[in-house]
Amino acid sequence: MTWPTPIDWIPAGGIRILDQTVLPDEEHYCDLHSVEAVAEAIRSLRVRGAPLIGIAGAMGVALAAQLAAAANEKKTMVKAVDDARDVLGRTRPTAVNLRWALDRVGHIAHAAPGDAHAVAEAVRAEAQLIWDEDRQMCRRIGEAGLPLVPDGATVLTHCNAGALATGGMGTALAPIYAAHAAGRRVSVVADETRPLLQGSRLTAWELTAAGIPCTVIVDGMAASRLRRGDIACVLVGADRIAANGDVANKIGTYAVALAARTHGVPTYVAAPRSTFDFACPDGAAIPIEERSADELRCFAGRTTAAPSAAVWNPAFDVTPAELITGYLTDAGLLTRSRLSELAPQAH
Ligand code: MRU
Repeated sequence: MTWPTPIDWIPAGGIRILDQTVLPDEEHYCDLHSVEAVAEAIRSLRVRGAPLIGIAGAMGVALAAQLAAAANEKKTMVKAVDDARDVLGRTRPTAVNLRWALDRVGHIAHAAPGDAHAVAEAVRAEAQLIWDEDRQMCRRIGEAGLPLVPDGATVLTHCNAGALATGGMGTALAPIYAAHAAGRRVSVVADETRPLLQGSRLTAWELTAAGIPCTVIVDGMAASRLRRGDIACVLVGADRIAANGDVANKIGTYAVALAARTHGVPTYVAAPRSTFDFACPDGAAIPIEERSADELRCFAGRTTAAPSAAVWNPAFDVTPAELITGYLTDAGLLTRSRLSELAPQAH
């Protein structure tokens, strides 16, 4: 199985990312050498997808720790870590994976013994662990999702919850990769995902590169396609799942889930445990990112909305738990009533 690697360490220092804003035209890598550069890459969606944002944030903090450790002053280094967490934590509000990962590396910076270099090393090791764990969780999600993708199945997905969005083989796309590797003939219908086209630019790119057939449709076509009766299931990712099972995901997911319910097609949400926020009681409490009006006003260098028209551009919507058939997690396929099994245990 092959899938792209959207992020990596630069051995001499820094972070290399695959710039997702220019795919599929260009496979261009950017080298990031400062916390501000990492923050800009997250804000502008050069790196994107909830688990990958968490990994990038943790790696950004590790970069800050490494840069500050040069002065070999532990207090200054821990302060640099806290400042980096602050800057990176404000880049995108909806994906809880970011805050979760920043808390993890922050805890290590405050608790690790030794001098500034030892602490910077420990922070980097924690960032690597977050990435490694995500890769394993993606693999387990893929295995758990295999029964949902029998031979001949066509799955409808929204946005990109594949390798480009994670540290491994993706979340919603993981069962597709696993089924393909098992020799099953599977195909995907990808909503193009306005306004930034993560479906047509990214999902279609990574799937076709892996030899998995993918048909792109405009978002408004999803309901008609679901009515045709040839979609085995809807599989989507998530940016945050509240304690009651409500799911924030890319804008348009709610409409897909409504149409799927109407046409008797099951909707599964795939996510690692880092996407669950048990402190958030329900979807109404999830902060929804609002992005620039220009994302709707312009397209491919052309004006696409009347200049004096108002624009509302939330990047995510909330799908109520009632519309979700099951949650495909690294702990298996769970119903809503079993989600509390994923809650972190208090020590
Ligand atoms: O704005 P994006 O491209 O970061 O939005 C991504 C999504 O909505 C994904 O579906 C979600 O993060 C899950 S990624 C495994």
